[in-house]
Amino acid sequence: MTPDTTSTPSDTLGTPGITAADAVVATNHHYDLPPEVFATFLGERMKYTCGLYGTADLSLDEAQTAKLRFIARRLGLRGGERVLDIGAGWGSLTCYLAAEYGCEVVAVTPSRVQIDHLTERAARLGLGHRVTTDRRSVYDLDPDGSFDAVALVGVIEHLPDHHAALATAARSLRPGGHLYVSASCYRSQWHRAVYAPRPASRDVAENIFGHADLRPLSALLAAVEDTGLSLVSTTDLTRDYRRTVRAWADNVRAARTRVDALVPGLADKLLRYLETTEAGWGRTTKHYAFTAVRSRWGHHEETA
Ligand SMILES: C[S@@+](CC[C@H](N)C(=O)[O-])C[C@H]1O[C@@H](n2cnc3c(N)ncnc32)[C@H](O)[C@@H]1O
Repeated sequence: MTPDTTSTPSDTLGTPGITAADAVVATNHHYDLPPEVFATFLGERMKYTCGLYGTADLSLDEAQTAKLRFIARRLGLRGGERVLDIGAGWGSLTCYLAAEYGCEVVAVTPSRVQIDHLTERAARLGLGHRVTTDRRSVYDLDPDGSFDAVALVGVIEHLPDHHAALATAARSLRPGGHLYVSASCYRSQWHRAVYAPRPASRDVAENIFGHADLRPLSALLAAVEDTGLSLVSTTDLTRDYRRTVRAWADNVRAARTRVDALVPGLADKLLRYLETTEAGWGRTTKHYAFTAVRSRWGHHEETA
């Protein structure tokens, strides 16, 4: 039997009592900034999450492509599957899967600016027939158990109720379907209790992102277990995220004039966030990717 997680209370520390709707309004302030700003520092795919460097001497763009390949493998994709990309950003994963795997992707984000950008990008790449954009919050989705794969890449940090979001993701999967989640986490519940209330952490959570709440991995894995899915892999990507954030910061410094021309004062704000984040990796914060399968057995042909 799958436990009922719909009544699980939010355990938000950063912004006590914030509703799901308030969190969307707050995060949209960041994600509705002009896409040109993000294009100055995120690299050609505009992927706003960790790349995959491993031990190789890769560029940011190479690391982001390696990461997208990694996600596709973790999702067990072979070609032509239906994928739900929750919190799709400007379409890095959506367009990659539609182009390289011929997947039919439904891309969900509550940001109007991101939806417009993603829709235009998919059309420009000749992928419009494989990509559907859906401007909604994860909490407003109606899961129908029809997707082969669901991805939440760097999204759960913005969601006040991670239990409900993961339950929706799980119910979106067909039997045997795969869930991929990547998330920045506090090292432990103790680190969350001590560091989340500090001014530098609150500045990033509230003034940069509008709403962000990092949980320890254990809390996320417990919530996945509550969905009834079987966990099949967990990977520590903390070192990769540190390299990614360093590359972004270098790009912001190099594009400072352009960033400030687009949004006055933003370059310093972004650098403050990137430097705060940089200081925490491996000490107070970690970044993980994990995969789960809608199957009793958790069987997963893992190649990554
Ligand atoms: C850090 S970005 C990651 C974007 C993308 N996955 C990537 O890897 O580039 C976080 C994304 O989560 C989205 N998001 C925030 N709150 C959300 C919600 N309630 N439901 C769905 N997506 C949400 C944001 O709009 C944004 O697209």
